[in-house]
Amino acid sequence: MKTPNAPATDNEIIPRMPSTDTMGRPMSDLRISVTDRCNFRCTYCMPFDEYTWMDRHEVLSFEEIERLARVFVGLGTSHIRLTGGEPLVRSNLDQLIGRLSRLAPNFDLSLTTNGALLAEQAGSLYDAGLRRINVSLDTLKPGRFKEITKRGNLDEVLAGIRQAKKVGMSPVKINAVIIRGINEDEILDLVTFARTNALEMRFIEYMDVGNANAWSLDKTVTKKEILEIVQARFPLREIGRAEGSAPAVDYEFIDGGGEIGIIGSVTEPFCSSCTRVRLTADGKLVTCLFAETGVDLKAILRGGISDEELQEKIAAIWTGRADRYSDLRWESLSSSAGYRPRDHKKIEMITLGG
Ligand code: GTP
Ligand code: 5AD
Ligand code: SF4
Ligand code: SF4
Repeated sequence: MKTPNAPATDNEIIPRMPSTDTMGRPMSDLRISVTDRCNFRCTYCMPFDEYTWMDRHEVLSFEEIERLARVFVGLGTSHIRLTGGEPLVRSNLDQLIGRLSRLAPNFDLSLTTNGALLAEQAGSLYDAGLRRINVSLDTLKPGRFKEITKRGNLDEVLAGIRQAKKVGMSPVKINAVIIRGINEDEILDLVTFARTNALEMRFIEYMDVGNANAWSLDKTVTKKEILEIVQARFPLREIGRAEGSAPAVDYEFIDGGGEIGIIGSVTEPFCSSCTRVRLTADGKLVTCLFAETGVDLKAILRGGISDEELQEKIAAIWTGRADRYSDLRWESLSSSAGYRPRDHKKIEMITLGG
């Protein structure tokens, strides 16, 4: 490591005093979308067959991602999660994992996937340095799986989950978005599946992310409802949020059967402890999942800039951050004014990776 005043080179981390935003939140987690493409078309995320996909030349190279990641680590970021679209459709992703896993000691690297390509890639991802993974799985019924994902095959995802366990990924977390009238009848089956296979089940409240889904509050099965359903069959003890800032509130089964998490983004928002910054595949820096726009870091990067100058720019953006969308949405939903999701234009979920 070099002193803060020494000139930057291409591959060193320049430590800088971490900054906090206007609500005192540090920038500890970076979610990097490596592609906006996806082999599924989930009804709650990207139901359209076609979309204006990013031009391939616009997508950051692995070298550019690694350089940006290093700059963020210098600014105090200690977790990086790779997302998409579907991250495993990006060619040679294991090479990026290799670059990022060597960035710093004790660095937390993770990935969120739909699991379709996991059976074939789990081994190489593990060998490259990936140790933990989150896989989306909303149902255990093959027909329903097809209805939700349009293009997915349940058996392939189950094989991917098995392979991730087999190669040694730990924990393997399972993300299920629970939508009223679609899959709330499977909450206990999913819990049993996770307990039987030593997986960590996480239930997610359906959110109005992006503009493509047909969200309405009545379709959101609340964290409280989910908790009551699980508790009635499997008594739980609350643990809390990992690091005090994770989206999920974790619970452990009193009988020692492992843990589950519930993400109550709509009815129990957690903006006050939100430490997450996002980078889109085409290099936009986005400070909230519900933001309308981001700052074009790729243009700045490709225009020629030193690592120190990049750090200054990113730190200035973070210092001015005041995002608390889910808090404000809950205030509107709870007031007589109400909340109209269509009044807010947002970046699509498939571009931001959750
Ligand atoms: P862990 O590090 O394993 O705790 O992962 P994670 O829960 O942070 O990431 P994952 O990609 O598995 O996301 C789970 C759900 O949480 C997805 O529906 C995300 O969209 C949602 N989520 C993640 N971060 C935020 C956030 O900052 N705000 C909101 N509202 N939702 C988020
Ligand atoms: N509401 C809640 N979670 C969502 N995800 C995608 N769309 C939504 C939505 N509308 C989840 C996916 C994946 C994670 C990255 O985000 O299921 O697990
Ligand atoms: Fe489904 Fe994830 Fe693809 Fe969106 S990005 S369509 S949630 S698999
Ligand atoms: Fe963070 Fe925005 Fe999500 Fe609130 S709504 S937790 S500020 S990403």
